Amino acid sequence: MAEIQAAAAEGSAASPVHDGQPVDASGAGRDVSILFVGDLVGGIGRRTLLESLPVLRERYAPTFVVVNGENVAGGLGITPKIADELIAAGIDAITLGNHTYHRREIYRYLDAQPRIVRPANFLRSQPGRGVCVVERDGVRLGVVNLSGNLYLRAGRSAFTEIEVALGELGAIDHVLVDMHAEATSEKIAMGWHLDGRVTAVVGTHTHVPTADARVLPGGTAYITDVGMTGPRGGVIGVKREQAIESLLTQMPVRFETSDEDPWLMGVLIRCSRPMRAESIEQVLMPRPADASKER
Ligand code: FE2
Repeated sequence: MAEIQAAAAEGSAASPVHDGQPVDASGAGRDVSILFVGDLVGGIGRRTLLESLPVLRERYAPTFVVVNGENVAGGLGITPKIADELIAAGIDAITLGNHTYHRREIYRYLDAQPRIVRPANFLRSQPGRGVCVVERDGVRLGVVNLSGNLYLRAGRSAFTEIEVALGELGAIDHVLVDMHAEATSEKIAMGWHLDGRVTAVVGTHTHVPTADARVLPGGTAYITDVGMTGPRGGVIGVKREQAIESLLTQMPVRFETSDEDPWLMGVLIRCSRPMRAESIEQVLMPRPADASKER
């Protein structure tokens, strides 16, 4: 914990690990916890995360913190500046989704920054990578991002490409899979498909936390949707009056991110054996500072 904070203060988070490294025996069997934070929505989501991190580190002392950042830049995409800020704050890895390429300035960054991943089942020709490995205290965590294929644009099947992605990870102690998908069926199926083979499968994209967090029989922690880190006062992040107007009039409406009632939504996964979860619990908390009073 102290080490993570010190590293963040110095702007020198733990080094990513590249494929092919031998397993570090010191990391095997150690108690490990992974805090995964659901889709950051806009500046309000980013501020909610950054203000909540000290509380969460004090409360849970997570070994790793991973966030989904595909909505963090004004509700759509992510920029290099924001990604750098998150990494400097000690975030170990950032996952993305269907809005990965909304900001053109992120394209080269996706190829250069090893801590950010876009869905592994996008086309190989698209910028970025789908897997990364990060290390803390000799423990190696593989992070895989996938996109569902139903109602979302992903060039290849998540169910075939996950095999390739897992094969690219090399020697690791744990694997976290962010399945960014619209359909609950695809996410549940992926949980069962990977049960016993990865530490956790967490669903993102729909921005509403589901009540089905559990450890599957094979030892994989699973939840269909983690929820978002953003304004509960809107409609999955959008100002509610704009969302309602769009639905009422069936006409184009410019959407803006709501700032009302921001909450952090995530899950904490605890592990005592490699590649297995002991528990998964939801982390649902309001922004420490009441953002709605700032505006
Ligand atoms: Fe999404």
